[in-house]
Formats: sequence, structure tokens, C-alpha cells
Amino acid sequence: MKLTDNEIRDITQHLEAGKPLPDKYRFLLFDDKREVELVWSGKTGDVCNVVLPFQVIEQVDEPRAESTVKMQMDLFDAQTGRQIKGWNNKLIWGDNKLILSSLKNGALREEIEAQGGIKLIYIDPPFDVGADFSMDIEIGGETLTKKPNVLEELAYRDTWGKGADSFIAMIYERLVLMRDLLAEDGSIYVHCDWRVNSYIRLVLDEVFGKENHLSSISWRRSSSTGSSKAISRKFPANQDTIFFYKRSRNYNFNRQYLPYSTEYLKRFSHDDNDGRGKYRISDLNTYSSKKLEELRIDNRLLYPKKEGANYSYKRYLSETKGVVIDDVWVDINFVNPMANENLGYTTQKPEKFIERIIKASSNEGDLVADFFCGSGTTLAVAEKLNRKWIGSDLGKFGIHTTRKRMIGVQRQLKAEDKSWRAFEILNLGKYERQHYIGVNPSLREEEKQKQLEAREKDFLDLILHAYRAEPVSQFKTFQGKKAGRMVAVGAVNLPVTRLFVEEIILECRSKHITRVDILGFEFEMGLFPNIQEEAKSKGIDLAMKYIPRDVFDKRAIEKNEVIFHDVSFIEIKPHFKKSSVAIELTDFSVFYSQDAQNADVNLKNGKSKVIVDKGQVVKIFKDKDGIVSREVLTKLWTDWIDYWAVDFDFESKKESVRIKNEETGEYEDIWTGDYVFENEWQSFRTKKDRTLEMQSVFHECQTGRRKIAVKVVDIFGNDTMKIVEITIGGNQ
Ligand SMILES: C[S@@+](CC[C@H](N)C(=O)[O-])C[C@H]1O[C@@H](n2cnc3c(N)ncnc32)[C@H](O)[C@@H]1O
Repeated sequence: MKLTDNEIRDITQHLEAGKPLPDKYRFLLFDDKREVELVWSGKTGDVCNVVLPFQVIEQVDEPRAESTVKMQMDLFDAQTGRQIKGWNNKLIWGDNKLILSSLKNGALREEIEAQGGIKLIYIDPPFDVGADFSMDIEIGGETLTKKPNVLEELAYRDTWGKGADSFIAMIYERLVLMRDLLAEDGSIYVHCDWRVNSYIRLVLDEVFGKENHLSSISWRRSSSTGSSKAISRKFPANQDTIFFYKRSRNYNFNRQYLPYSTEYLKRFSHDDNDGRGKYRISDLNTYSSKKLEELRIDNRLLYPKKEGANYSYKRYLSETKGVVIDDVWVDINFVNPMANENLGYTTQKPEKFIERIIKASSNEGDLVADFFCGSGTTLAVAEKLNRKWIGSDLGKFGIHTTRKRMIGVQRQLKAEDKSWRAFEILNLGKYERQHYIGVNPSLREEEKQKQLEAREKDFLDLILHAYRAEPVSQFKTFQGKKAGRMVAVGAVNLPVTRLFVEEIILECRSKHITRVDILGFEFEMGLFPNIQEEAKSKGIDLAMKYIPRDVFDKRAIEKNEVIFHDVSFIEIKPHFKKSSVAIELTDFSVFYSQDAQNADVNLKNGKSKVIVDKGQVVKIFKDKDGIVSREVLTKLWTDWIDYWAVDFDFESKKESVRIKNEETGEYEDIWTGDYVFENEWQSFRTKKDRTLEMQSVFHECQTGRRKIAVKVVDIFGNDTMKIVEITIGGNQ
């Protein structure tokens, strides 16, 4: 590198003034890699390597028929018909950056490798700005649009906050982690559209190597272009691109075929009635004498009819596989709103489409993964094709949609007398405290830390102010105090975890504190109500409250309009019959609000709006004279329920996490103090069938005391649990 005196002076002046260097120095100061490379703001090549322990919070497994259990006693429990050994499929809730990094570097890696590693990854990241995290819920003939919760909104801002720059930074890091997780003979498919495909192609070339690019598949989404697209002054967009890369030369690929057209089939018009079926006559253009002899012996050779003409031979229809599928897919339509498989998930992809990918790049028994699984299409198809699977999604609604879908698949496979695997729902139990709300990633580590601390303090002040609590400083876990209760605030970007609450309980015990409010944007699945029960047994009254979205709305805070609503409430009634018990759901309430503040005032004359006001979905209508009327759409408490399930013996399966013992280097299973919820009976609404049973079946139990857990998932995809202790036989 040779810089002129002028250039050196110019650089020095810029540095002394603390100004960024002009672009031309990028090429003068750094090594020329002589490669086409995509550069974006904040590109560092750093990749997350955090390891967090996975926590199984739920297991779902349709009981198998007695005959199946008898044939494989070592695999299934004789009493319950559930899987007790072998691989459990995994549905993981959380940010896939942390999930991928923990899978790559943590205890589950060993289990994955024992299955032969991940052979296929399909991802369909959120390239459609705005389509994620909000969803439409049909209620009382109206549509309520559920807005993203704060965690989802933050993830959305992470991805799109700085447009393409932040999207690429997000996807780059995840693709590097996926590459490192993929088996040597595995492959990856990345689904994108015109908005990001040019960037993703370059990122994939960089991460996987140009030489590993196999196909760029063009998928025509719809056979018609639709009226709204057709009117724009351009060719209507009707195509997605799916990039297909291999991990190494040693990859697996099964060629896929389409059936021949009826026109083509007509050419197979001959039949010798020798059992070999129909054939067509084809010219034999090049051949060896050996080949000729083989055809003759097989009675397939047809001699030239006149001198100088070619030999021909019989080509049997039964020996042909169909038309080879190339990289232009026009035979599969997007999921039609009326289709049976439609789950109301905006970005859902067709099963037939994913089936082609899974069949092409994996075999039965292989492990397939989708880290942006949405409504779970990849997982449903993988299960039906007898593959093992791992799926993850950040949205609670995505996880819940997938849970219901997979229960449906298990039931379908059972009805068809086919096999299926149990699946687990997992959480990342303990989170590293991370920076939130856009700490500048290009800063140096210590500056980042400073900015983070400042942001955390601002955030805390904001929440305490909105909650009308006064700040306190001499505590480890409490930041405020209100009306005789201590106040603890959960992190902005993470759910309140069990570990977090346990620390609070510890401090309460050492300082004789008995009344506590915990404020959180999200609570870890399965946290309630056992943690409150546990605290109660130690004389501590724990109240958990949701921090509402409007906490970031200054005006709402000033007007004292921010409501911290309670977590949901469940009431159940057990019914006994000899040694069996059934559970009836007798009440369920939520306390959400969305768009309720000043809804009447903000509404224009002649317009209506659906809002949520303290646990009621309400349609507000303002007539042309400005007179407002309100109609409550949630007429029954059951309208809030989307799914409920019962575990008839809650404490039968301990929840544990695998953590590396730093001294021995070995992984150890450590009990978290909680239990895994086993879905032993469930009732849920589907898009087609909106009915819900309110009482479970009777379940045979051993006599004695036991705990029964009931989990309810509301129409927003949030779950709440209730545990009751009962006695079977004797005094109930
Ligand atoms: C385009 S959708 C996938 C749809 C899916 N292919 C299907 O058929 O239903 C993208 C999904 O990525 C999820 N997502 C976005 N950011 C994520 C993140 N950081 N970690 C995990 N999932 C994420 C969204 O919640 C959304 O469900």
C-alpha cells in the first residue's frame, strides 16, 4: 500500500476530527480480496456463540393403539401408549439466533449428530415487511387484528429497522450458524422474493461458497395474476426464488418427476399382452453390439424396415419415471383461502411445494429443520414423509399454530395406521442479558456496554413512571415500590423466566418481603401458576402483570392511561367416576386491552373499529351524527379460548436442562424444579371447526393424591396453566 503525503494528511485530519474516512480509502487501506462481495453497514463477520440451556416445557404425543405398543414394548409405554425412547421432534420458541447458536455449541448438538446430523434446512425468512407477528382473528362475525407484542415488535425492528442493511445482517449471521449445523452431506433451501433475492444470493455465495450453489428455483405462486397486480404499470410480480445450496460435494439428491401429460401418454399405444404393459417405439440412434444383443434377447429390438434405416426398440411406460422437474416450478399454487390446509397464517406455504423439497433432499428417517417455521408447513410435511424434524419461531402465535397443526398430523397418521414421533415444545430457559432497542452494533465493546446501561436505565425509569411506582436502589432484584408492594421489572427483550423469579423469591426470604409485583412484557411458557404457588408456600404474594404496548407512548403515560393488566385466570372442576377423573373448564378470563384508549374520540363518523377493552373484544361504531355505540363481540368467556389441554399426572415428568459442568467438561441433566406438561387430552378450534369441548374424557388413574395441570391457550396464542391437587379413590 502506497499512500501519498496528501492522502496521509487527509486521513490524519479525518481521524483527529473524529470523522468517518471517505469511501475511497476503503480500497486503498485494506487488502484487495478480488472477490465480488456484499457489504452492509455494521458487517463484522462476528457470529453469536452464546449457549443457553433448552428447557422442555411440553410434550405432545397421541396415544398409540394397543397392538402397536405390544409390538414395540421398548419404544412405547404400555399404559399410556406414548413414546418413551428415541428421538423426540422439537418445536422451539424463541429468537433463532440464540436457538441456532445454542444448538450448534450446546448439549443438543450431540443428540442431533447421533441422528446423523441435520440433512436438510428449508427457511422462509420474513422478507415481506410487515406480514409477520400481526394476525387477524375472526370473532363474532368481525375481524380483530391482533398487533404484535412488544418482543415481536422489537424483533421486527431488529430485522427491518434499517431496511435492507439490518435484514441482511440478521440473515447473514443465521446462515453462518445454519451452515455450521448442517451435516456434511446436507443441503439448504432459502426462500425469498424480489425484495431481497439479489442480496441473499450474494450472502449465500459468501457463506456456503459459490461452488456450492445448485439451483435458483423460480416458483410461480399463482396461475392467475389477480386484478390488483394486473393493474400496476409493470409485469405483475408472481414469482418467488428459492436458492438451493449444498454443504459439500458429498450431498444427497433424489431427482423428482412430474407425471407425463395425457398427450404424451397417447404415444405408448402398443401392447404385446405379455404382462409388460404399454410401450412406444423409439429410434435406437447409438448403440453397441452388446446393447443390441441385450435388446434382442429381451424381445425389444425392432429391425429396420428398409435398408439404411435405424433399429428401433420398445420403451415401456412402466420403466419411465415421468418428466424431470427443473428449476421452474409452475404447477403448485399458493395456499388458497378455501383450501383444507389453510390455517389463516398469512405467509403459509403449500405442503405440496415443501414436499418436493423434502423428497429431493432427504430420505426417510433423516433430520429436517426449519428455523423460521411459521405455521409449521415444513414440520407437518416432514412428519408425514417419516422424517425427523426441528422447528423454531419467535412468534407465540406461530408456535401455537404449529402445535395444533402437528396434533392434527399425529391424529391423521394414527387414523391411517401409520407411525409418528412425539414432539416437544422447548424454550431457551435462561437468557443472557442483551442489549435492547437498537444499541449501535458498530460501536466498540465498551461503548456498546455504556449505551446499553444508559438504555436500560431509561427503560426502567419509563416503566416505573408508567406504573406510578417510586424507584428504590438498595435491592438486588427490585427497582421500585408501590402501595406497600415491591416492584421488579423484567427485561425489555426477554420473557420473565423462572430463574428471574427465583432470584426475587430468594431476596424476599432474606429481607422478609411478602408482597411483590412482577412486571413483564412476556412470561416464559408454563411459568404460571406453579411459581406463584411456590412463592405462596413461602409466605410471598406474587402478582404478575403484563406491561402494555402503550408504555412507549409518552402521551398515554402523561394522561395516566397505561394499564398493566393481570395474567389470565382459569377455573376448573374435576369430576370423579370410581378411579377415573375428567376435568371441566368452568371459567377463563383475560385482561388484555388493545387500542381501547380514546377509541371513541379517534373514530371518524360513519366508521367502526374492533378493539380490546379489559378482556372484552368490542366493536365500536360511530354513526354519521357522531353517536357512538358499542357491541361486545366476546359474548361468552369461552370465546377467548382457542385450545385447552390436560395433563392428568403433572409431576410425572421432571423438567431438566443439560448444562456443561465446567470442571469435568461433561454435560449434566439438572432438574429445574419444574415439570414437563404432557398433553394427554386436548380440545381446540380449527379454521374449519370452531367447536370446543368443555369437559375432558374420563381418565383412568392410580389411587392416591396427584396433581392435574390444565393449560389454556387464548386466541392471541398466549398460554396460562392451572394446577389442582386431587385424590383418586378415598376422600375426594
Ligand atoms: C414467512 S414466515 C414463515 C412461513 C412458513 N414457511 C409457513 O409455511 O407457515 C416467517 C416466520 O419467521 C418468524 N421469525 C421472524 N424472525 C424470527 C427470528 N428471529 N427467530 C425465529 N423466527 C422468526 C416469524 O414469526 C414468521 O412466522
